[in-house]
Amino acid sequence: MLDPDKPVEVDLGFGRGEFILEMARNRPEVEFVGLEIRQYLIEKVRARLQEDPRANVHVLTANVKRHLSTLFDPGMLSRVYVHFPDPWTQRKRHHKRRMVDADLVSTLHTLLRPRGEVHLMTDKSDVGTEILALFEGHGGFENVCGAGQFCLGSTTGVHTREEMYYIGRGDPVFRLRFVRKADGED
Ligand SMILES: C[S@@+](CC[C@H](N)C(=O)[O-])C[C@H]1O[C@@H](n2cnc3c(N)ncnc32)[C@H](O)[C@@H]1O
Repeated sequence: MLDPDKPVEVDLGFGRGEFILEMARNRPEVEFVGLEIRQYLIEKVRARLQEDPRANVHVLTANVKRHLSTLFDPGMLSRVYVHFPDPWTQRKRHHKRRMVDADLVSTLHTLLRPRGEVHLMTDKSDVGTEILALFEGHGGFENVCGAGQFCLGSTTGVHTREEMYYIGRGDPVFRLRFVRKADGED
């Protein structure tokens, strides 16, 4: 299903899919895979793909926390996007459901090729700070925007629906970009 000669980029929790569809249009040389837990959102994107086919977009129903590690081979991914993954994390009892935790960071380290990238966004400063600490604490990633720093602008050049919502309200967006170090790299 995926062209083995093309790089693979994965969007975790793509929502209505505008981001993955635009990225796929801009970069036909890349295979884009979207994972989403809500079936109706998969169907929305599939309907859009029927009207406007794009051979390099593949969407799958999946719970990232349970299925991501089983879907790809180690070193297979060039980039992973994690944009506004947790709408409900204000409540403490929901913290264990956060998509980005130590297990996800470790899975991404396994699945990304050396120098592969993870791009993340959240509207919540505490979630952003926690994500930053998880990636920097792992040791296998470099913070492209500077140790301990968030990125100052879009890291992809394409805005997601959720990002536009917060920009429209004048709220801050916390952006991060990490590169998977090559094995043996400091
Ligand atoms: C706030 S929306 C953000 C959508 C999109 N990334 C954006 O930036 O516009 C979060 C999305 O993540 C999905 N999601 C949450 N937890 C997930 C999980 N464990 N596996 C797959 N998708 C998940 C939700 O269904 C929802 O569509």
